[in-house]
Parts: sequence; structure tokens; C-alpha cells
Amino acid sequence: VRRPRVLSGIQPTADSFHLGNYLGALRNWVAMQDTHDAFYCVVDLHAITVDHDPKLLRKRSRIAAAQLLAVGIDPARSTLFVQSQVPEHPMLSWILECHTGFGEAGRMTQFKDKSAKNERVSVGLFTYPILQAADILLYRADAVPVGEDQRQHLELSRDLAQRFNTKYGNVFTVPEAHIIKATGTIQDLTEPARKMSKSNSQPAGIIDLLDDPNRIRKKIKSAVTDTGREIVFDPENKPGVSNLLTIYSSLTETSIEELQNRYADSGYGDFKKDLAEIVADFCAPIAQRTKSYLDDTAELDKILLAGAEKAHSVAAHTLARVYRKMGF
Ligand code: ADP
Ligand code: NA
Repeated sequence: VRRPRVLSGIQPTADSFHLGNYLGALRNWVAMQDTHDAFYCVVDLHAITVDHDPKLLRKRSRIAAAQLLAVGIDPARSTLFVQSQVPEHPMLSWILECHTGFGEAGRMTQFKDKSAKNERVSVGLFTYPILQAADILLYRADAVPVGEDQRQHLELSRDLAQRFNTKYGNVFTVPEAHIIKATGTIQDLTEPARKMSKSNSQPAGIIDLLDDPNRIRKKIKSAVTDTGREIVFDPENKPGVSNLLTIYSSLTETSIEELQNRYADSGYGDFKKDLAEIVADFCAPIAQRTKSYLDDTAELDKILLAGAEKAHSVAAHTLARVYRKMGF
């Protein structure tokens, strides 16, 4: 039997993925390789919707790919590729743009948020969700892992697939949301009221997967805890400690309840010391493997080229059908 196909992408917009990216998304990507025909994409075309530096983009695309390999994406089982190496993405995006209402695109709340924050707003930022629809529909993905923030974009992809199929005949698979097993969001270590984010957090608030052990120890040690001294999960009143418990629980697959019992007689200091070692031990081999991929960029580029060829063979087939239906 054919495994359901999944597609997911991540932007190469930082020098490292952080622990929130891993626990909220990448861990799930790794797991889905066992159950799905997985297509994973470094979406560098999406990264130019805001100001960018060409040299940095190239560097960060490689880092992103190296980190995906380092956390366990297996190019023998999954199709791992860089979006710009498959020319059909912007080609299908154009076709879909011509089937998207201006008002429909204008209702995307992420655009409203992002455009409110930026001084210069490009048309690309506006059409971003349509490129995202092209990413998904090109591979006729059955499933797309989504967190809450991406639901509206997936809904647009589904609408566009249905609209196209109704007008021209069946070409696209209408993708379903694959709801990510709830780790919940990982919060900023210094401002636990908001999420750990490369765009909003200060360095001290983020654990990068490439941080060295001492840096990690320092960050966990200075993470904001809350008043009181009990280690209990209470996101409302104790967001700092609760966030650390979530991280601890996720990385060790120990229930929060068990952790509360284990640390019932300890203070924050002991708890943080243990957690720091767990996080440091988790990140060290990932950093090591990332470095070895980045030390041999010729080999890394070869892996990505092979992935792009696999992706291209699927994407070209879909686009050829689209073009035929459209009268080209
Ligand atoms: P950032 O918010 O740091 O800019 P992205 O928006 O590029 O990160 O997110 C990439 C993926 O990582 C998405 O699937 C997103 O849902 C997930 N993610 C990002 N930050 C967190 C977080 N703090 N907790 C859980 N998942 C996260
Ligand atoms: Na984001």
C-alpha cells in the first residue's frame, strides 16, 4: 500500500534552528518518516519576502539542510530538498495566484501581522501563502503538519485545490491537516509569556541547537523562574517553571506528573542543573553532526541535488498536467 504523502517546509532565516523549532516541528518530521512518504523542503524562496542578504541566504540554506540531516531526516527515506532548486514552485504559484481572489488573499491574518511590523511590504509577502499552496499541491501531498498559526494558509491551499479541480478536472490532491502531537509551544526562557522565536527573542531567551554546552548551561541557569519555590506545572501562574518542565518532559519522554514528584523536595537550582545537562546532552551530537555536514559542503550539496531531482520529477509531472488543463 502507498503511504500517505506529507509535505512540510521550513525557512532558512537563522544561523540555527532552536529548541522550539525542534520540539514543535522537526521532531515530528523525523517521526513521520516511519508512516509517510515525506517531502521536506528548505523554503528559501519564502525567505526573500522580507529583506535578505544573498550570502547569508546561501549559508543559512546549507545550515538548515545540515541541521535537518543532523536531527534525523534520512535522505534515503525522505525527499529532502531546497525549494529554489525545483523551478516548478514559482511556476505553479503564478497559476494559483490567477485563481486567488484579491480579497481572499487579503484576509490572511499572518500577512496583516507581518505587514504591520514591516516598513517596506512586498507583494511577495502578500502572495506568500499562495507560494505555500504551490509547495503543497505540486507534490499532491495528502497531509501537511500544521500548528494553529498555519491553519488559515492550509485552508487556502485546500480551497485552491478544490477550485482548480472543479474548473479544469482533477489534478490536485486536497491536503488534510496533520495535527501535530501537542508538545505545545516552547516559551522564551527570559520572557516566558511569549514563545521562543528567532525573530522576537533575545539570544538569552532561545536555545539554539548549535549552542555549545556551556552556553546552554548558562541560559538554563538564568532562565526566568517564578516566585515561590515549588516545581509545579501551572502555565498561568508559573509560566517559567512550566516551560522548563515542558522541555524536560519532551526531551526525556517523562510525564510532567512524574517530574513534579521527582522534584517535590528540590529547589529550582537542582532542577535547572539537571535540565541543563539534559538539554546540553541533547544538542551536542546534533551540533557535532551539523558541523560535519557543513565541513563537507560538496557532499551536502550532492545530497540536496539528489533530493531536488526526486522532487523535480514529481513536480514537473504535476505542472505538466496543470499546463495541459489550462490550455498551454
Ligand atoms: P520562528 O517563530 O522562530 O520564526 P518559524 O516561524 O520559522 O520559527 O517556525 C518554524 C517551525 O517551528 C514552525 O512549524 C513553527 O510552528 C515551529 N515553532 C517555532 N517556534 C516554536 C516554539 N517556540 N514552540 C513550538 N514550535 C515552534
Ligand atoms: Na514565525
